[in-house]
Amino acid sequence: MVATHDMIGSEKAMELENQFGAKNYAPLSVVIAEASGVYVWSPEGKQYYDFLSAYSAVNQGHCHPRIIQALKDQAEKLTLTSRAFYNNRLGVYEEYITRYFGFDRVLPMNTGVEACETAVKLARRWGYDVKGIPANQAKIIFVDGNFWGRSIAAISASTDPSSYTGFGPYVPGFEKIPYNDVDALKNILASDPNIAAFMLEPIQGEAGVIVPDEGYLQAVRNLCSQYNVLMIADEVQTGLCRTGMLLACDYESVKPDILVLGKALSGGVMPVSAVLSSDEIILTIKPGEHGSTFGGNPLACSVAIEALQVLKDENLAENAYHRGNQLRDGLKAMNSPFVQTIRGKGLLNAIVINESHGVDANKICYAFKNNGLLAKPTHGNIIRFAPPLVINQEQMDECIGIIQTTLKQLMP
Ligand SMILES: Cc1ncc(COP(=O)(O)O)c(C=O)c1O
Repeated sequence: MVATHDMIGSEKAMELENQFGAKNYAPLSVVIAEASGVYVWSPEGKQYYDFLSAYSAVNQGHCHPRIIQALKDQAEKLTLTSRAFYNNRLGVYEEYITRYFGFDRVLPMNTGVEACETAVKLARRWGYDVKGIPANQAKIIFVDGNFWGRSIAAISASTDPSSYTGFGPYVPGFEKIPYNDVDALKNILASDPNIAAFMLEPIQGEAGVIVPDEGYLQAVRNLCSQYNVLMIADEVQTGLCRTGMLLACDYESVKPDILVLGKALSGGVMPVSAVLSSDEIILTIKPGEHGSTFGGNPLACSVAIEALQVLKDENLAENAYHRGNQLRDGLKAMNSPFVQTIRGKGLLNAIVINESHGVDANKICYAFKNNGLLAKPTHGNIIRFAPPLVINQEQMDECIGIIQTTLKQLMP
């Protein structure tokens, strides 16, 4: 594909954002004007491999033709009705997604943070109506390093000072325990009968791709069942084939009580998120008690069905699994002094940079960019590698080559 030149160039695009936009992000200085599959192009036509996938939202590859077609077809017919009326796409989507993941019902939302917040509301309501927790006493347990967005509730659950500092007061009833610590969970569950739910990511994405020990998710499942506490799996980032399985919980054959999805649910085309659960839990929320103008809109429903079907038709879980192994093997074989740790599952990976050689992760990312690969540092010295799941073996070989060449060029 040859990129067409857009109306404004990179310099102007960055200048405008810098002058007129809020400064709540610090982007790498690269402008993307077009994208397809694993590639993105600047307005000037420079091609890059995308190794971030919009934080795992573009699992199916940029502008997947089938998903874009579904978007166009639906956009010409009906985009939004609100939930004041039925529409002819929502029920079809609800049947499709609940069968796809094996849950009774779905509550559709838009962004990941809204869906996580919905899960928390559901857990509290279930805690009062079903578990019998006294009014306003329900607690939700989170883990250190969790990330589920930027709302006041989400930052109240956060243990990252840059997320919560200066935004108090915080939502009460949230407690935090260490991640990957079965005893900590057991102790807190045993000590407090008012716990409604335990929410976790099966692999922590934003914390820097933290993979828990094998058996952790199974132990969490067992403890939650034992103490009548809901297990909420936030698979907004790990779900939808990213880690080499449809869900990261599938690695331990664990079914959460509430499953939260977002990001790639639309293939990165628009914000679509979902909360899946049982009749017992979801039906505790009654008409008028929760909702969203755009949640469950017909455009989102048509796009999400196609995005989910593409994951299956293109065997993206399997591809993510194999390409992930190829990537980690390739990184290990480099034996680069800059790379202190390599971790991940499927195509959710991170390298930890040893910055004692005088080159930091940010500089490395700029060097990757110059060589045609886009990645972004997180938490200082961690670089995430998460390309679209449609990447093929040859493309991955080329990317491994770019990474190796770049790291060699940076050697003192
Ligand atoms: C695990 C997880 N949950 C929730 C969210 C929030 O999603 P959104 O940015 O769509 O609100 C994210 C975003 O990175 C995430 O990684």
